Amino acid sequence: MEKQRGKGHRLLLMPSPLQGHITPLLQLAQILYSHGFSITIIHTFFNSPNSSTYPHFTFHPIPDFLSDAEASTSDPIHLTDLINIRCKQPLQESLSTLLSHRDDDDDDEDSIACFISDAALHFTQAVCDGFNLPRLVLRTGGASSFVVFASFPILREKGYLPVQESRLEEPVDELPPLKVKDLPKMESRDPEAFYKLVCRFVDECKASSGVIWNSFEELESSALAKLREVLSIPIYPIGPFHKYLPEGSTSSSLLTPDKSCISWLDRQEHHSVVYVSFGSMAAISEAEFLEIAWGLANSNQPFLWVIRPGLVRGSEWLESLPSGFVENLEGRGCIVKWAPQEEVLSHSAVGAFWTHNGWNSTLESICEGIPMICSPCFADQKVNAKYVSDVWRVGVQLQNKLERGEIERTIRKLMVGNEGDEIRHNTLHLKEKANLCLKLGGSSYCFLDSLVSDILSLESSTSRSL
Ligand code: UDX
Repeated sequence: MEKQRGKGHRLLLMPSPLQGHITPLLQLAQILYSHGFSITIIHTFFNSPNSSTYPHFTFHPIPDFLSDAEASTSDPIHLTDLINIRCKQPLQESLSTLLSHRDDDDDDEDSIACFISDAALHFTQAVCDGFNLPRLVLRTGGASSFVVFASFPILREKGYLPVQESRLEEPVDELPPLKVKDLPKMESRDPEAFYKLVCRFVDECKASSGVIWNSFEELESSALAKLREVLSIPIYPIGPFHKYLPEGSTSSSLLTPDKSCISWLDRQEHHSVVYVSFGSMAAISEAEFLEIAWGLANSNQPFLWVIRPGLVRGSEWLESLPSGFVENLEGRGCIVKWAPQEEVLSHSAVGAFWTHNGWNSTLESICEGIPMICSPCFADQKVNAKYVSDVWRVGVQLQNKLERGEIERTIRKLMVGNEGDEIRHNTLHLKEKANLCLKLGGSSYCFLDSLVSDILSLESSTSRSL
């Protein structure tokens, strides 16, 4: 693919300010930069990315008018709603400046080709329309979960939503193999807020010029086929994004990874370690925390456990662990606040990933051929976990609420003896597909080629009037 095709053209990209959304958007920006485009990242003050990591990008902060209390990820739906309201005017002003600058200026300046926003920032469609600026969407989650989101109105009409405890085991006939318990759920102060946000962002995806997915055709072909019908706009599954970039080449981590765990991993046996992390937002109770701790300890497998400050509700960090717990492990456990996850998953000592199935973690695990133990918490994670366990068959789900006996049995089943062989085999097969799709002529390679062409033709077909 011609690396300089985007030269002379600038892309404006805006992330949703959450770790699991910032990372893939910045990776996409790097991929498009490597095809010649100039990059401007428009971002909120809250969770602003570290601009010094990307000296080749221009960063353009806009005010989000969030109070200290509002600037929190404890209710991500409420936070996203606030950003969708409060950033509208600042974005209008910012685009007005950026686009008028361009119009006044000489030929040395890049032309602005389009705006690429996270799907959750649905307000950006109307703002872009006001400037006749084409908008592409980046959906940071998977295509299979998006099919579920796009079905929310029908799921409500048929009575599957809101999810009722008494119906959890019922199949959702419209979306096999999902059961009611696999449908996305997310608590917020307004019980309707999640449903409304999902419907809104799906509608504004349909109104966009195309949707980019951090996924690949071979992984989600049936969901992507369905989305081609439902959305009737171009879709570009060009992932896995992180595999385009040299490992550790840039980090968009909001927390500092503790690299000491890599030297601990170096001392462990091949494929012996369970890596445990529930991403950047999930929170658990103290009782669940203790079940995890004892389940890990009793499994007798070495483990690397990310305990993010804030993971345990009501605790700062490790205070609820029984005294002597860590010492009694005699080096069999390593606990960090934040890990260099990509490096961890590609380490030969790691044999399983116990994950909450955020989409980035799921994809990163697939790309390294690491079998998963799934404990989905909210939103798309339940759908991702169902695909991991029942469709791709690259992991197992913990079926019940977190309980030490089940945890111990599940870890041993996957890591010790032959029971995990089939899962390991499937995982390596999928890893191979993830590698092939990026190679010359592979599916993601070809979709990226179309994306670059389409961005350039979008620009030339739009005459902007301010
Ligand atoms: C959120 C939602 O929870 C998820 O459902 C949605 O799909 C994306 O947004 P998050 O919970 O943070 O994301 O999970 P995930 O998508 O897995 O992203 C976490 C990112 O942080 C991954 O890229 C992972 O590599 C990174 N990470 C995590 C670290 O670098 N170190 C860690 O210790 C833990």
